[in-house]
Order: sequence, then structure tokens, then C-alpha cells
Amino acid sequence: MTAISLVINDVPHGPIEVRDDLSMNDFLREVLGMTGTKFGCGVSQCLSCVVIVDEPDGGGSSTSPTCITTAVSFNGKQIRTVEGHAKAGQLSALQKAFIAHYAFQCGYCTAGFLNEAQVFLERLEAAPVPRAGLEQAIIEALDGHLCRCSGYVRYHQAVRDVVLAEPARYLL
Ligand code: FES
Ligand code: FES
Repeated sequence: MTAISLVINDVPHGPIEVRDDLSMNDFLREVLGMTGTKFGCGVSQCLSCVVIVDEPDGGGSSTSPTCITTAVSFNGKQIRTVEGHAKAGQLSALQKAFIAHYAFQCGYCTAGFLNEAQVFLERLEAAPVPRAGLEQAIIEALDGHLCRCSGYVRYHQAVRDVVLAEPARYLL
């Protein structure tokens, strides 16, 4: 057993004692009751379970699967989950675009796509691309996320809409 502490969506949690082999997915869903993070394949292939990991001192963010990683490996980290995207009862621009495009059907993959797209937007803000390179950049950003309901094109269109709504922010 190990006592872990971490910050999730700006809220400190812990110290909480967990088994050393407890997955991060089980920690979020079963220990904390945060069921927005899904469990799909369990072998790091579908990416439905990813959360955003924020590096300290603004060092950038990335996504990490939670199915094959232990809760202990997140000790001391700062992360964001799907529950953290809406602020003060207002959906984020990405969430609104996902709904506007009917990007999801069963919704099982949506938290993963949302987290990946959010990291993509933040990277784009730091390093804008030309309009001509946007489609490929979106494809590469969302690559690897599986959607059994085949929402790929609609997710892509939704992310594109968010970028094109603020070209001065995201494009060269
Ligand atoms: S459940 Fe983690 S990658 Fe599929
Ligand atoms: S919306 Fe059903 S798996 Fe993507």
C-alpha cells in the first residue's frame, strides 16, 4: 500500500492509501467516484480512458491512459479529467462543438477525444499552424482514439470549428 496525493481539476486529493497495483482508472472510478473517465480495451489501444497530465511550471500537457497505469504513478501529479472541462456550469467550446456536430453516439469514447482535443488546442495556441496544415494537424492529434460508433469525421469537424472560430488564436 502507498499513500498518494494528487490534484485533479484543481482540487487536491489525498493522502489516500491505495494498493500498489491499483490502476489509475479504478482509482478515479471506484475510489473517487469520478466515472466520467471510461474503461474500454484495458490494454492502451482505444484511448477512451486518457486523462490530461499537466507538467509543473507551464511545461505543457499531454494525455495518459489510465487503464494500464497505476494510481501510484500519478502520485504528486496534476491532472485534468472530463469532469473539469465545464466551468461554472458552462460547457467548454469543444464540448459545445461536439454536441453541435453530434460527434458522439454512445459517448463511450468522448472523454478521451475531449481530453486529446483540449491538449491539441493548447499546443496549437503555443505553436500555431497555417490554415493549410490544420486538417493534418487535427488528424495527427486525434490519431489512435477509437470510436466504435464511427464518429471520427464529426469529431474532426468539431475540433476544426473551434479552431476556425478563433483563427488569430490558433492559426498563423
Ligand atoms: S481503456 Fe485504456 S486505452 Fe483502452
Ligand atoms: S461515440 Fe460510441 S464509441 Fe465513440
